[in-house]
Amino acid sequence: MSRSQRGEVEPFHVMEVVKAAAERQRTHGDAIALCVGQPGTPAPAAVLTAAAAALSEQQLGYTEAAGEWALRERIARHYADSYGVGVDPSDVVVTTGSSGGFLLTLLAGFDPGDPVAMTRPGYPAYRNDILSLGCRLVELAVGEQTRYQPTVAMLEALPEVPAGLVLASPSNPTGTIIDADELAAIAGWCAAHECLLISDEIYHGISYGRRCASARQFGTASVVVGSLSKYHSMTGWRLGWLLLPEQLRRPVELLQGNLAICAPALSQAAAPAAFDASATTELDGHVARYARNRDLLLRRLPELGITSFAPPDGAFYAYCDVGHLTDDSRRWCYQVLEHTGVALAPGIDFDTIDGHRKVRVSFCGDTTELDEAIDRLVGYLGSCRPAGHNQPTDRQRRRQLS
Ligand SMILES: Cc1ncc(COP(=O)(O)O)c(C=O)c1O
Repeated sequence: MSRSQRGEVEPFHVMEVVKAAAERQRTHGDAIALCVGQPGTPAPAAVLTAAAAALSEQQLGYTEAAGEWALRERIARHYADSYGVGVDPSDVVVTTGSSGGFLLTLLAGFDPGDPVAMTRPGYPAYRNDILSLGCRLVELAVGEQTRYQPTVAMLEALPEVPAGLVLASPSNPTGTIIDADELAAIAGWCAAHECLLISDEIYHGISYGRRCASARQFGTASVVVGSLSKYHSMTGWRLGWLLLPEQLRRPVELLQGNLAICAPALSQAAAPAAFDASATTELDGHVARYARNRDLLLRRLPELGITSFAPPDGAFYAYCDVGHLTDDSRRWCYQVLEHTGVALAPGIDFDTIDGHRKVRVSFCGDTTELDEAIDRLVGYLGSCRPAGHNQPTDRQRRRQLS
């Protein structure tokens, strides 16, 4: 029993599956993790070189709460280069992953009881953090019709104007990208209604044809959330950032100073190199692999009877309907892990109402492993069916685990 209401937070189920997959790896040595949004590659070489130099040459003590100025300048320049928008380095606060930035934004932006909207399905830590801080969760049920993204019409239909709206594009779990026009309209609506738009853009750079717009292109009233975790393949470096509207800069800086003091100094010292041209070439190579993995997965999902999934425009997830296999996605994911060693993320993490019939498959790992994982799943599902129905092929049987 928790001592506080804040501690009575739902688990981030993906992290629970990650724990179970690590246990499976220890006991069987055969786990394939398709449950987590973690690129299977290290940080770019330029970052590793910069980190090595920083380790030998710098003190690496605390930095300013808002982050090293040189890094804030580099991040500001990234917005000019990538989106053609001017950002002042003082608009940027460097955070411990975007997760740290999101928490600072919630703390600085809202009081307990304030209604904060987000999509369902959506990123679970957002829902859990909003609730843990005592804000009121307003869920916008989204689906295929709007590419799993919110619209102004949905906001207009709410009984009250929310104090905030969290939007992620590309989204997790669906990978869908919001149209630039709709993002512009939402940014305008939020500014006009004093609703703080929090635009999670941490998957920018990973897309398969559709362009990602930044909320920053449509004014300075929104909070833009960025991170080195995904495109830059640096999850464990815990380095993210916020672009903040003027009125939130000082409160966020004060909260950061009190809660974390600063983001990790080694990561800050190495981070500017993540934007070097050589890093971009390396990272675009990873995106090309994600694209191949995506093609492979979409081609093979029907072998699992999965024909309905959100269009993965970006990020590296397929959010799939497995209603023909289960109405308890959490239990099913653990069964699948036990029988195949393949770890999948249960849909209930992202959608507490309709997620029982959904799973999220992450395709940012190794292509051969992904193929192997699908073989195992095909074999497992075949073994669950009555004899004579879609028996696994010999190749699949050979590769199937006992
Ligand atoms: C939509 C979204 N936002 C934020 C995060 C947190 O990422 P990080 O704290 O590593 O920047 C994640 C991680 O998976 C995510 O999917």
